[in-house]
Amino acid sequence: MKMPGENIRGEILRHRAISFARFMELALYSPATGYYEKPPGGVGRRGDFVTSVSVGNLFGELLAYQFAEWLAELRVPDRPLRIIEAGAHDGKLAADVLGWLQLHRPGLFAELEYILLEPSSVRQQWQRETLKGLASGVRWISGLGDPALAGSRGIIFSNELLDALPVHRLGWDAPAGDWFEWGVALAGEKLVWTRLPEPVHDSLSPRHAPPELLAVLPDGYTIEKSPAAENWWRAAAQTLAGGKLVAIDYGFAAGEQFSPSRINGTLRAYHRHQVSGDLLARPGEQDLTAHVDFSALQKAGAEVGLQTERCCPQPQFLTRILSAAVKRGDFINFDAKQIRQFQTLTHPDHLGRAFRVLVQSR
Ligand SMILES: C[S@@+](CC[C@H](N)C(=O)[O-])C[C@H]1O[C@@H](n2cnc3c(N)ncnc32)[C@H](O)[C@@H]1O
Repeated sequence: MKMPGENIRGEILRHRAISFARFMELALYSPATGYYEKPPGGVGRRGDFVTSVSVGNLFGELLAYQFAEWLAELRVPDRPLRIIEAGAHDGKLAADVLGWLQLHRPGLFAELEYILLEPSSVRQQWQRETLKGLASGVRWISGLGDPALAGSRGIIFSNELLDALPVHRLGWDAPAGDWFEWGVALAGEKLVWTRLPEPVHDSLSPRHAPPELLAVLPDGYTIEKSPAAENWWRAAAQTLAGGKLVAIDYGFAAGEQFSPSRINGTLRAYHRHQVSGDLLARPGEQDLTAHVDFSALQKAGAEVGLQTERCCPQPQFLTRILSAAVKRGDFINFDAKQIRQFQTLTHPDHLGRAFRVLVQSR
């Protein structure tokens, strides 16, 4: 049986060092030993920290309300409407969205195709388990390249997918006035940071950083760059013939990337409810996430014809949904549990601070 981290060590021995992006890909997604390949609950994501979905059903129900409103505007005869969810993990959010639609918008529920974009057969199995009883209109597709997705009309969305895609980690070498890339090497058995000898590839270089900012940037200032997230967003945009592309995630908007408070970047490891600064420890046993660069996503979407409708903090997004719903007579009898859930989703001390929502449309 393969031990966690064994394949990472093997790859480093073959190449002397690997990029952090490759390390993150192997630590999170290696078959059988990757963090996200392990069964949900207990050890694993649900055991490591709270997400908007694990707070309760309300998050998915509010999304379902908003999706129903958007889909009503997109309806045309003989063209099926789709909700496509990526990064569904254990399927709990899909269950919350579909459960609300089944109860409150049965007409839409009956005609809708709900597609889970899921490359891993292991996770598809967990999702099938969770969605038993709701699965008649549900389909699984392994990736955005599948021709069955071309020309989709409806909504493509993800919650905390893009922060889990591999990132390159770049450091600023102030004396040299240039960026370098952090890689991962071995010192004996121990995984250690190393500067990769090759110059940073043009596609990773933060060209948008103004020279006057670089002139004062402290030596070692660290940022992340995720071509994987930008490529995913561009491919999703190209799949969408009409409708909305939505990302809900940790992240920053234009101009916020070089904050003085983020000298060490935004990469974090989570292990059993604790944030850990040791990103290389316990590969496969701790979650790794980095803030999403929402302005880079907006740019990627715009390049393939999408328009930005909204890029706002999660509390603003959810509050607008709730007020519109209440005006129409939905969500009017909140019980104490739902009130607590809404507070947790929107309060700055809980999930209201770092989460943003990007909506682009075609
Ligand atoms: C942080 S979890 C998502 C949590 C879940 N959406 C929720 O709201 O609770 C990220 C998930 O995205 C999955 N993932 C990673 N790359 C993916 C891809 N290219 N397509 C779809 N899912 C992917 C991971 O395996 C993991 O299950």
